[in-house]
Amino acid sequence: MLRKRGSLIICGTFLFIAWNAILIFVLLGRSPIGKLDNVELTDPRYGEGQYMSANRDTEYGNIIKDLMKVINAFETELESQNRILLQILRHKSMLEENKIGNAAVKNASSVKNPSHVVIPILVMACNRVTVKRCLDKLLEYRPSAELFPIIVSQDCGHAETANVIASYGSQLTHIKQPDLSDISVPASHRKFQGYYKISRHYHWALNQVFKTFAYSSVIVVEDDLEVAPDFFEYFKALYPLLKSDPTLWCVSAWNDNGKEGYIDPGKSSFLYRTDFFPGLGWMLLKELWLELEPKWPSSFWDDWMRNPDQRKDRSCIRPEISRTLTFGRKGVSLGQFYDKYLRFIKLNTEFVPFTKMDLSYLEQRKYNEAFEKDVYSAPVVTAEELQSGKLSGPGPFRLQYSSPESFKMLARNLGLMDDLKSGVPRAGYRGVVSFFLRGRQIYIAPPAGWKQYDPSWS
Ligand code: UD1
Ligand code: MN
Repeated sequence: MLRKRGSLIICGTFLFIAWNAILIFVLLGRSPIGKLDNVELTDPRYGEGQYMSANRDTEYGNIIKDLMKVINAFETELESQNRILLQILRHKSMLEENKIGNAAVKNASSVKNPSHVVIPILVMACNRVTVKRCLDKLLEYRPSAELFPIIVSQDCGHAETANVIASYGSQLTHIKQPDLSDISVPASHRKFQGYYKISRHYHWALNQVFKTFAYSSVIVVEDDLEVAPDFFEYFKALYPLLKSDPTLWCVSAWNDNGKEGYIDPGKSSFLYRTDFFPGLGWMLLKELWLELEPKWPSSFWDDWMRNPDQRKDRSCIRPEISRTLTFGRKGVSLGQFYDKYLRFIKLNTEFVPFTKMDLSYLEQRKYNEAFEKDVYSAPVVTAEELQSGKLSGPGPFRLQYSSPESFKMLARNLGLMDDLKSGVPRAGYRGVVSFFLRGRQIYIAPPAGWKQYDPSWS
């Protein structure tokens, strides 16, 4: 695949050079005035077949100028083709170096020891120069450039942002989404144009990662995310689980309810399964992309993922304490959501050696068994009892809801995210939202015997 693409590009490059050479040869070989003398030119502005000797010199000058413009454009294109070719070759050699690792991933035994797996980081950028904060942290914590190549995909054609990205030189690969045209959207969606562009960019960039660069997994990061010190360690440790457990479709760095006061700082190694797709620093496999790509939506890609048609009852892994923080107050969505929730989500600071830990408790069967027991053996309490601080014992405690209204009321009273997407509450698993309050584990749960989500709950 790569080899074919490589030779295609070489052929293309050759054709460009040849074409340019012929053009230059033809132009230089002609005397600008002499050869065109007495040539009848047809130009609609002058009427068919009219002789244009009076304007011939200026006309010819313009033709030369236009041709020079075309040549310059070709040269620029040639340079950019060349750059892409070099990038592809670099990635190819990296992939080859890791052939042993890749082959190893395919056989079950090495799934437990994924030290040679290459997982690229795809950074989605547009027009914010603050992408620097994102890139600086990624580079600061990246344990290996070979195992975690960084690809920055830029939309929007913003020159200043392009310069910031280019300033990192060979530490990353800079690719640019080529279609910067406006997207025609229904009149009522005009203000959502941004979401259409984001969706188009995701479609293109993920195709680049999986089809052009031929990687088998990726961690997607947006340009307004700062990563935690153990960001890479976390994803590396969870990769084998994502590969082996078909009931998982993503690993995310984000806890939607991970605000200060709702997490236990002593539990930074705690991980959970969630039915809510969190995004915001997440890993997926190529198989998933091949499944989603043909029906990729024109806008609101993240909520589309949360729809049962896409999710198909699959879950993600999420941490107790987020491994990403968002600093993007000014973005496509308005800042209110940011001011109200997002800016309070705490970023983990302590390095947890996940790759050295046994994470098998996250496998669906084991997890569900322990989860059901833990949640439904916890005593049911009311929000008032909980907030009064009078409850004794170490917990966990359970709060019960039986309708979207009662869920929202509980969540709102406690200061948690109260929205439901396709019936799934943020950070929820089997209808249950878990969080910590004053060191105790609290569950907001539907009655025992939960079977499935109701997508009409919103
Ligand atoms: C929100 C989500 C984001 C999701 C997006 C699409 C949060 C905090 N953020 O975006 O995860 O992807 O909705 O539903 O929930 N971008 C482009 N082209 C553009 C504009 C933006 O590629 O024309 C890129 C940005 O560089 C960024 C991403 O898209 O990487 C999201 O843009 P942002 O402006 O941060 O929008 P949010 O409102 O945070
Ligand atoms: Mn954002």
